[in-house]
Amino acid sequence: MSVYKIEYNDLKELQIFLYKKTGLYFEERKFDYLRIKLENRLDKLRIYSLKEYLNLLKTDLKEIQQLIDEITINETYFMREIDVIDTYFSKIIGYNHHNFSRIKIVSAACSSGEEPYSISILVMEKYPALVDKLNIFAFDIDSNVIEKAKKGIYRQFSLRAINRSTIDKYFIKNNGEYKINDKIKETVSFYNLSIFDPRAYEIMVGSDLILSRNVLIYFGIEYKRKAVNLFYESLKDNGYLILGRSESIYNVNSKFVMVHYPNVILYKKEVKNGS
Ligand SMILES: C[S@@+](CC[C@H](N)C(=O)[O-])C[C@H]1O[C@@H](n2cnc3c(N)ncnc32)[C@H](O)[C@@H]1O
Repeated sequence: MSVYKIEYNDLKELQIFLYKKTGLYFEERKFDYLRIKLENRLDKLRIYSLKEYLNLLKTDLKEIQQLIDEITINETYFMREIDVIDTYFSKIIGYNHHNFSRIKIVSAACSSGEEPYSISILVMEKYPALVDKLNIFAFDIDSNVIEKAKKGIYRQFSLRAINRSTIDKYFIKNNGEYKINDKIKETVSFYNLSIFDPRAYEIMVGSDLILSRNVLIYFGIEYKRKAVNLFYESLKDNGYLILGRSESIYNVNSKFVMVHYPNVILYKKEVKNGS
């Protein structure tokens, strides 16, 4: 328990700092969460004033990364809303796959890797003809989750939505943990980057599909717009964006065209021939 009591005004100041630096926007209803995380960090560093801590953040990039690692919410699991991704493969790629020499997919804000690895498992299971064309890139702002993704070792809870035979096929069980097999691992390249980092744009550019699921909810409107515009600009013409089911870009970007399927919405960067 920290000796220093973090007050509302301190949190307000940190809220603005984080927003400007990272786009992460902690609404006031999340201040209790932020306070607990911050107290942990100040205790570890033996710093007892937020002013001192903010000064440190302004000069020490490593500390910003440490704080980001502490406060990001990384909840994810294998095969989360996989029907949406399956719809992309069945309806969009489907019989047209001969037109694609490769399929470039980016998982933006991939957390510990469950999302991009799930795409790879889905394709191996249901669309084997596409395996050799698949090129998956994934990044996240939190360095800890990227390390975990690269190791590819998971607890059973992460696998709660996969059936037993698929687990046996793609994971190696060891000491109660599950290691993703090399064949799947090789299909994904991971990077520790923010969506707003120009290097992330370099990775996204020319994508057929970008997934940005359950991350826009943590941004204020300005950064939401920025992120969605980056996705739009970096996608190939007629490429697609997938969002989390509870997310929408209503009021954020009007260039994407919504494509509806039963229970699924895909966002298309529609570019007509000659336009
Ligand atoms: C709730 S997880 C979502 C993971 C996965 N996309 C899913 O839907 O299961 C949100 C992730 O967004 C990441 N994140 C937050 N801000 C980010 C940013 N500016 N750039 C990249 N990743 C970010 C967090 O570190 C966290 O791992």
